[in-house]
Amino acid sequence: MPDRIWIEEVKKREGETVTLKGWLYNKRSSGKLHFLQVRDGTGLIQCVVFKGDVSPEVFERSGKVTQESAVEVCGVVRKDERSPLGFELGVTDLKVLHSAQDYPIGPKEHGVAFLMDHRHLWLRSSRQHAVLRVRHEVIRAVRDFFDGKGFTLLDAPIFTPNACEGTTTLFSTEYFDRRAYLTQSGQLYNEAGAMAFGKVYCFGPTFRAEKSKTRRHLTEFWMVEPEMAFCDLEENMDLAEEFVEFIVQRVLNHRSQELAYLKRDLDVLQKVRRPFPRISYDEAIDLLHRQGNDLPWGKDFGGDEETLISSAFDRPVMVHRYPARCKAFYMKNDPEKSDLSLCVDMLAPEGYGEIIGGGEREDDYDRLLAKIREQGLSPEIFTWYLDLRKYGSVPHSGFGLGIERAVAWICGLKHVRETIPFPRMMERLTP
Ligand code: 4AD
Ligand code: MG
Repeated sequence: MPDRIWIEEVKKREGETVTLKGWLYNKRSSGKLHFLQVRDGTGLIQCVVFKGDVSPEVFERSGKVTQESAVEVCGVVRKDERSPLGFELGVTDLKVLHSAQDYPIGPKEHGVAFLMDHRHLWLRSSRQHAVLRVRHEVIRAVRDFFDGKGFTLLDAPIFTPNACEGTTTLFSTEYFDRRAYLTQSGQLYNEAGAMAFGKVYCFGPTFRAEKSKTRRHLTEFWMVEPEMAFCDLEENMDLAEEFVEFIVQRVLNHRSQELAYLKRDLDVLQKVRRPFPRISYDEAIDLLHRQGNDLPWGKDFGGDEETLISSAFDRPVMVHRYPARCKAFYMKNDPEKSDLSLCVDMLAPEGYGEIIGGGEREDDYDRLLAKIREQGLSPEIFTWYLDLRKYGSVPHSGFGLGIERAVAWICGLKHVRETIPFPRMMERLTP
């Protein structure tokens, strides 16, 4: 049997006879020819079966092979300028390794609910490959960015007794004879990490019992969170914009084929260059009022407000210093205006909404304790967290980027559900 290779290697094997293993993606026939599109996960290739080149059995088998059957194909690699791959296979032999019956996803249009019910099979489509490869690239870029800057990866636990982002979106679970929550954010543990290692990041799944069925919310999503000691809000924003520029430029450079498949407007992504605009919450409120949105001062932005604000800019915008009452207990108050938090949200362009949330943390023991009490949280659970303000407390900051929202924006997808292999949402726990 000739060498078995992956479809991605075909371009190095022009003129050679090779074996491919994969699945039948699509098929059409005309007289003495069958055109089989075969995929193996690394690519898609057209395999041309000409009656004069193969045995009568192989020709007949090729005409009957069904969508998503597993196949082994032998043939000669030929140049084909018209195909996206640049090559096709002139088939000499074909074996059906497993015959698929009535594959449910056809070339016709299916509704999203149907496709989501068949997510385990939908992952085989070219569109899903493009999106999930961009996701992989984003994750690789995330790690390269922080590793390249000397951050230590210090992953946070998933079971926790602490509510980081408010008590309304906690998933609780039994933990032997106690109650535990699934983590909403690794931040609190990251703060301990920053006091130990200077600059750290964690990257993992986070959980929120989001009852809102929006295009931006999952109940399980992946977040990367850096945390730095001796870092204020301005330096935190510097890092956030450098980070987002890095990721977007990396995807542009490494995943142009996938972005082209998704018909992403590259101009918008190419503009993602530092410096990003920075406006205060107060300025954002003025902007909203000028646009006819009358959200009163003191209220948090919803999707509509975020879209209005971001559409005033051609790159991500950082909105800082929200009213403290909109934000979590750990935020440090602005010393110049104590009803504001030293926080920042980064809003992606084109109405993709908040992709990053972060800020400077309260580093004073008494003030932090007071905030924990004010928000109705129990101080005993936070003893360890308060300790960090007892032993060498210093200004420190960090942020979290939601991977799925970032991927949805970079790919230009309306909804986050396709940016993770198996999305979890309020109404979806299967497959
Ligand atoms: O703004 P959030 O809630 O911030 C935090 O969790 C901080 N503790 C992070 C930190 O400072 N270390 O969430 C951060 C990001 C959001 O900007 C968004 O991108 C994403 O996480 N996110 C979600 N993504 C998908 N589905 C959800 N339900 C999300 N909730 C937040
Ligand atoms: Mg937020």
